[in-house]
Amino acid sequence: MKKILWLVGLVALVAVIVGGAVFVYSKRSLTAGAPTVQGNPPVIIGFALGALREDRWLTDENLFTERAEELGAIVIKENSNYDVPTQMSQIENLVSQGAKVIVIVAADSKAIAPAVESARSAGVKVIAYDRLIRDTDIDAYVSFDNVKVGELEAEGVLAVVQKGKFAYIGGAPTDNNAFLVKQGSMSVLSPKIESGDIQLVLDEFTPDWDPAEAYNTMRAYLATGGTVDAVIAANDGTAFGVIQALAEKGLAGRVPVSGQDAELSALQRLVQGTQTITVYKPIKAIANEAANLAVAMARGVVPETKVTTHNGKMDVPSYFLVPVAVTKENIANTVIEDGFHTYAEIYQVPSTPETPR
Ligand code: BGC
Repeated sequence: MKKILWLVGLVALVAVIVGGAVFVYSKRSLTAGAPTVQGNPPVIIGFALGALREDRWLTDENLFTERAEELGAIVIKENSNYDVPTQMSQIENLVSQGAKVIVIVAADSKAIAPAVESARSAGVKVIAYDRLIRDTDIDAYVSFDNVKVGELEAEGVLAVVQKGKFAYIGGAPTDNNAFLVKQGSMSVLSPKIESGDIQLVLDEFTPDWDPAEAYNTMRAYLATGGTVDAVIAANDGTAFGVIQALAEKGLAGRVPVSGQDAELSALQRLVQGTQTITVYKPIKAIANEAANLAVAMARGVVPETKVTTHNGKMDVPSYFLVPVAVTKENIANTVIEDGFHTYAEIYQVPSTPETPR
């Protein structure tokens, strides 16, 4: 799988050069020129998480910390649990604790801008991690190709059902990624919506990506007698909520549902047949890239990228990684081969008792 990912990255990189947009998978692109630990005093890096609800974020935090510490940084971690004032004051605290760089998973892509602006005016560099921070100056943005994530989700569902009533259960309206993922899915569905093959019967965002909200949206629709042939759920958490509501009507496993994150429970649902597709975004890759970048920036080096993303205020230097579609068929040569989850975890193989000697 690693080989595949490198290859995908390489192909994307070539596509870039030809097509003008860049997706980087290679660690070298960021670490090239980054100072080594030897002879460098430790630097303080802040890591401000927006939420810890989904399984992925703890992994992001741990892997980021591990890599940054390897490079000689001290990492101070915060989590705001989607509370904007909390995240803003955490950013302020990180500045007063001497952070040279703050890596932020935005609790709200726009609302935290004033805290970012004041951190930067104190000379601190800000990196948007996974979610773009909008309408203010920032120093870098490290993420996956989120439009591609949405495309993969819609394609995964269309592989099973090509016509009928489709529901779109999106992410948080306060998260820029929710719009990018939706853009990707809609680019795939639009021709079929226009031709009348697909009828979009539900099109909703999900506040804070909360699975309970997704459940309520789906349940309310089904309760009024609404029928559905396929559901594009923006991530595995919302997919979980949707599948609960479908299950109550005896529809789980009969209606294809998408997701993203390759969470363990989602992979188990792929095996059980209640979820159709998830999207694997290698967390180790994004965590490493962001840590390399953060430590380099803290030491005054700005690794080069020609890719930028307009955030409403400026063109932000950007680093993108490549997502991979996962279905029941390719679990083994994607997430298992990459060491993200084990065969035993996914297929819930009971551990063999040790044979007494
Ligand atoms: C991330 C997803 C995640 C969602 C909810 C998005 O910004 O890209 O991976 O599932 O937030 O935390």
